[in-house]
Amino acid sequence: AVEAAILLRFRKNAGHGMSDTRVRDKNKERFDIMGMTIAEKILKAHLVDGEMVKGEEIGLRIDQTLTQDATGTMAYLQFEAMGVDQVKTERSVAYIDHNTLQSGFENADDHKYIGTVAKKHGIYYSKAGNGICHQVHLERFGAPGKTLIGSDSHTPTGGGIGMLAFGAGGLDVAVAMGGGAYYIPMPKMVRVTLTGKLKPWVAAKDIILDVLRQMTVKGGVGKIVEYAGPGVATLSVPERATITNMGAELGATTSIFPSDEVTRAFLKAQGREEVYVPLASDPDAVYDEEYMVDLDNLVPLAAMPHMPDNVKPVSEIGEIKVNQCCIGSCTNSSYYDMMKVAAILKGKHVHPDVSLTISPGSMQVFNMLAKNGALSDIIAAGARILECACGPCIGMGQSPESAGVSLRTFNRNFEGRSGTQDAQIYLVSPEVAAASALTGVLTDPRTLGEAPEIQMPEHFDINDSMIIPPAEDPSTVEVRRGPNIKPFPLGHELEDSYAGKIVLKTEDNITTDHILPAGSKLLPYRSNIPYYSNYCFINVDPKFPARCQEQGGGVIVGGANYGQGSSREHAALVPLYLGVRAVLTKSFARIHKANLVNSGIIPLTFADPADYDKINLGDVISLPNIREEIAAGGQVTVVCGGRTFKADCDVSDRQRGALLAGGTLNYAKKQH
Ligand code: F3S
Repeated sequence: AVEAAILLRFRKNAGHGMSDTRVRDKNKERFDIMGMTIAEKILKAHLVDGEMVKGEEIGLRIDQTLTQDATGTMAYLQFEAMGVDQVKTERSVAYIDHNTLQSGFENADDHKYIGTVAKKHGIYYSKAGNGICHQVHLERFGAPGKTLIGSDSHTPTGGGIGMLAFGAGGLDVAVAMGGGAYYIPMPKMVRVTLTGKLKPWVAAKDIILDVLRQMTVKGGVGKIVEYAGPGVATLSVPERATITNMGAELGATTSIFPSDEVTRAFLKAQGREEVYVPLASDPDAVYDEEYMVDLDNLVPLAAMPHMPDNVKPVSEIGEIKVNQCCIGSCTNSSYYDMMKVAAILKGKHVHPDVSLTISPGSMQVFNMLAKNGALSDIIAAGARILECACGPCIGMGQSPESAGVSLRTFNRNFEGRSGTQDAQIYLVSPEVAAASALTGVLTDPRTLGEAPEIQMPEHFDINDSMIIPPAEDPSTVEVRRGPNIKPFPLGHELEDSYAGKIVLKTEDNITTDHILPAGSKLLPYRSNIPYYSNYCFINVDPKFPARCQEQGGGVIVGGANYGQGSSREHAALVPLYLGVRAVLTKSFARIHKANLVNSGIIPLTFADPADYDKINLGDVISLPNIREEIAAGGQVTVVCGGRTFKADCDVSDRQRGALLAGGTLNYAKKQH
């Protein structure tokens, strides 16, 4: 009965319906008496599950999705496993921008797979070379008031055009494409009031660096950051997008700007004025925290090595010698950014000791620079022009020299991310990067004299020839799977009882790196779980993969804080492939536990941690009433080594539904 109730609840709320009128009315009552923030208005319009109470889980209807190639293969394998024929979103787009080197067949196979799977299932495909996902999405697909999730952490860039845009896991994107809801804890609201107007040589990048200085890299966790105040109207959409992009570095759930006449003008210039809607917060909207940035008094800033919130005025850092300047990435690669750089470089030469790289954010930007002559100014100055892609931002080339100083217009400067462990990476505006490339030392651009004035164009150059629309007749499309594309492992419906062996017993603090080693050598195999499985736990117990294969899987027993570290889904999918049905620990790291549930592996914790010492590798372990006990939401009976004891399965109603169905994909599949 409990299971039926859970399923019924999901059905009522999933997909495009907004059927839970009781919940909606209750929220209406609450928001009728107090004003709403922009984010709350969009959340309310997309709410399909839960109540808008801070910290409680809410389910949202998703209008648009995006993927990039590094996460896209897995997201589409997951989508295929759901068995949904055509995407149920208003718009879904697959971008190729992360790995465009194609230094082996694996990468090219991934691109071919993504291109064909997109064509078959109603997804637009942006080819390698068309640009960075967030830049292109802003130009060609973003729309105010809509919800967007993307399998990339900088998806909040869309907030610059008034979208509520979230970075999410590949599975979340697959479920949303299948019409399922996207779940987040209801965030707190933060208001950042912008006053005044940026002075010459001071940029949008300096605004977000100042916010990072104030809020720190942890300050946005569980919060939506909303920009307001008279300074907003002075900023173009690409400048706003630079700010919402780096909201990811605050740890924020997302960031958003109002949608106003500036937004309308941008959309009109992109030939998409019809998607414009105005959006503003109510005058009496309530915020949990407030910050101020006075644009009049802002100066050029830099985030020092090795943290985005380690921010200082450029003028105070001193004239350090610079080896490399990289301009581009989803943070600073717009037409506006590139035109400023071209104007600074025009008629001058890059310093002999500096390597300057330029990656325009999109084919649109690149082509406009070519047509208006700015590209020639950049080339003549001695810059190196790279492809419209993530490039050096994701470590695809351009690692600095040993102990080199690199100024980058990107969003992250963690140690080693550039590919050179001892490099010193500073995050700066395009103005600072271009000025420093000319002088060879970190330079406050205000020392260069008069700043260039760049006008936003009335019309962007519109050429969507590198965006391939889905097939009109999907039956004619064959999905191409090279040898690197292997099917996604799916869990199966939970049995009434389960018995198997303990296939691994670990100590405390097992990380996702222990479960599955990271490293660039294994990265190309993310779409090849059978191959990847040979490396599961090899640094803990090299016999683990073979043991699982011999015994058809079993149960893992772990200590405290099992699964800490990254959020990688593979750390659950690969054990699932090897037949692991349950993980019994003293405690779990939160995200890994959610990933186990998503894959259909039952996360159990010892009711009495002393039981951990009484069971051993190779023992037979059984869960005699597992289905009934999971459905009822109580404790789970475990029989092992002749003893019977209890374990807890502390999950939400929705997660219990997923465990009964054998994982979130199966659960979502049941709804259609
Ligand atoms: Fe690409 Fe770097 Fe952005 S990897 S999506 S340019 S953060």
